[in-house]
Amino acid sequence: MKTTIIFSFLLFFSPVLFAQAFVANYDESKVPEYKLPDPLMFNDGKPVKTAKDWLKRRIELYSIFEKEMYGKVPVGKVTSTFSEVSLDENACNGLAVRREIRWTLGRNSRNVILNLLIYLPKSEGRKPLFLGYNFSGNHTISAEKGIQIATSWVRNNPDFGITNNLSREAARGSDAASWPVNEIIKRGYGVCTLYYGDVDPDFDDGFQNGVHALFNSQRDSSSWGSVAAWAWGLSRVMDCLEKMKEVDSKKVVVFGHSRLGKAALWAGASDPRFAMVISNESGSGGAALSLRKFGETITRTNSAFPHWFCGNFKKFNNREETLPFDQHELLSLIAPRPLYVSTAEEDRWGDPKGSFLACVSASPVYQFLGKEGFPGTTMPPLETPVVGTIGYHIRPGKHDIKPYDWQCFMNFADNYFNTRKD
Ligand code: GCU
Repeated sequence: MKTTIIFSFLLFFSPVLFAQAFVANYDESKVPEYKLPDPLMFNDGKPVKTAKDWLKRRIELYSIFEKEMYGKVPVGKVTSTFSEVSLDENACNGLAVRREIRWTLGRNSRNVILNLLIYLPKSEGRKPLFLGYNFSGNHTISAEKGIQIATSWVRNNPDFGITNNLSREAARGSDAASWPVNEIIKRGYGVCTLYYGDVDPDFDDGFQNGVHALFNSQRDSSSWGSVAAWAWGLSRVMDCLEKMKEVDSKKVVVFGHSRLGKAALWAGASDPRFAMVISNESGSGGAALSLRKFGETITRTNSAFPHWFCGNFKKFNNREETLPFDQHELLSLIAPRPLYVSTAEEDRWGDPKGSFLACVSASPVYQFLGKEGFPGTTMPPLETPVVGTIGYHIRPGKHDIKPYDWQCFMNFADNYFNTRKD
């Protein structure tokens, strides 16, 4: 019993303990000098001159990220089966239809169940939709009683009496503040969410569980980590959304907060079916430049979360200057599709300025492809979004997802889906 308590404590607090042992730099004057690689330049130094060149360069860039950072998804098909678990035609005080769908992925006589929670406005026609993972189970995003309690592994949490890694009724609605479902529905959008641990539980298990277990292929230093697994899971959800006649699958916005923002960015880079990508405070391994070594660094991410990225990524621990890429090039892989990057002033760990600069340096790729790109060069004041094909804001406050962030995401989506023509 005692060992279990100590182990659970370490599992829960290890990122915090690591963070304390690791001294992060928060001083702009100590940011080293660096030169960002040019996304519009091939590895052999030749410039990208035509749209056809960009397609080739894009493949080159994508494979660098795949091989050196997120890891490669094994080749091979999975089967998928759909079953409706619940339907409430009067959810959100009558504003929405709520469905729970069990989307089962199968391969090699194993199954992984993705429990999807979908809210759609009641109006006629296909709806645009925000797709994103939740951190602790579908039942945490709303207090609505009908939503099933997650049964996958969850982190223990004394606040909600969660022990033995099993969630409980007490956690219902506990994260509702991050999910303004009624507001989203009123603006005409649907929401689809699932618990990220359904796809791959977030601990270092040697890739024995979650979707990694569907593929019993030999692993090497470029095999997929958990962030790539979460990104791949979002694409499998997209397979399901494409089958739903109520969803406008050409207007699916993939979004995520923090580690789930890292997954959303990689999903957007990997799967062109996502019409728009939103990263909220994704920080290191997400939208923030690694070469700045500001706040969380590669070494720190790799030590606290060794399962997130592939084995090759560890060779850049304390050697950021040897990176053949940086995160502005990840953002470039989303071009020409609209991308929104949001940050928070007190989330210095996630380096808001490093994310801003990544937007600035991804902009030339958007412009090369005939889009507006990112119309900013200096950090904007708080709560003053800079909006082009790439949008960015910094708001006051801590690492979190707030109603203000959601307002900006919806404004950005409205602008692209309903107003702009480019
Ligand atoms: C830790 C981690 C970050 C991550 C965050 C989160 O702080 O260091 O990289 O983004 O957790 O997912 O909440």
